[in-house]
Amino acid sequence: MGTESSVSTATVSADGAEIPALGFGTARMTGDECRQAVERALEVGYRHVDTAQLYDNESAVGDAIAASTVDRNDVFVVTKVHPDNAAREDVLESTRTSLERLGLTTVDLLLLHAPSDEVPLEETLSAMNELQDEGSVDHVGVSNFPVEALDRARELSDTPIVANQVKYHPYHHQPELLEYCVEHDVCLTAYSPLAEGAVPGDDRLGEIGDRYGKSAAQVALRWLVQQPMVAAIPKAASPAHVETNADVFDFELDPAEMDAVADLGDGRWSALVSKLGLR
Ligand SMILES: NC(=O)c1ccc[n+]([C@@H]2O[C@H](COP(=O)([O-])OP(=O)(O)OC[C@H]3O[C@@H](n4cnc5c(N)ncnc54)[C@H](OP(=O)(O)O)[C@@H]3O)[C@@H](O)[C@H]2O)c1
Repeated sequence: MGTESSVSTATVSADGAEIPALGFGTARMTGDECRQAVERALEVGYRHVDTAQLYDNESAVGDAIAASTVDRNDVFVVTKVHPDNAAREDVLESTRTSLERLGLTTVDLLLLHAPSDEVPLEETLSAMNELQDEGSVDHVGVSNFPVEALDRARELSDTPIVANQVKYHPYHHQPELLEYCVEHDVCLTAYSPLAEGAVPGDDRLGEIGDRYGKSAAQVALRWLVQQPMVAAIPKAASPAHVETNADVFDFELDPAEMDAVADLGDGRWSALVSKLGLR
């Protein structure tokens, strides 16, 4: 990803899906707070919005999309089926309810929020594929799936599993999962990319940022979107955070800086980069 891209244009290409590399997370925001934050995000250029049945904010997200001057077709909307709704009828019914709440006829990506202990994965994925067949869902994916479960999901689904949304940030690497995603054309969508607010206060990231006039949070987000197949979905209620988090496409971390951020975790990321020959 070069420095010529922007929050509106940088994408991860994953088996037929073009997923904007920086999306907007909405967990723990509801009502007006959520609507205003999503409206602001669309205004400053985000084109990927992440919600879930669990977040109780699909209506607010939908209101923001409806109020925005940005064309709905230019926004990549993601929602997630709650694991309690993993049985076939519940997938179908709950997703239709999600669509009603969002005020949309189609979502760009429907994820299974987490593996279900109760319902066989083939049943859930087959219902998600059915929703694709009827045009309610463009792409399907999963969330919180370790490598073996992701591999199984890819075997069971009739259509590509284009994304696995997992916790991934400078203190929490998933090298085996990243390797799998790079090899199999799956987007690794990094949730809690700012470690739920811990990253912005990190002096070591701040020092790297000083070289570019960027903050610690911006360095962490840049580190994420600069990796192959990785998208990031920071959440922010504060308008200033919404805006500055999007401003990570006009600088590039050099290999030593990429490694330095990775070393805040356990260093295994650097080994993977060499192994895959990613640079
Ligand atoms: N699939 C899953 O199971 C799963 C799990 C967790 C999260 N997610 C998704 O991932 C999204 C992001 O993860 P997250 O909400 O857990 O955490 P996060 O994005 O890592 O961190 C959000 C926190 O960081 C603060 N923040 C944001 N930008 C900042 C900045 N530039 N400077 C200082 N502080 C900043 C926010 O404050 P303010 O809000 O006050 O601005 C908020 O407290 C969620 O919203 C959700 O969409 C998915």
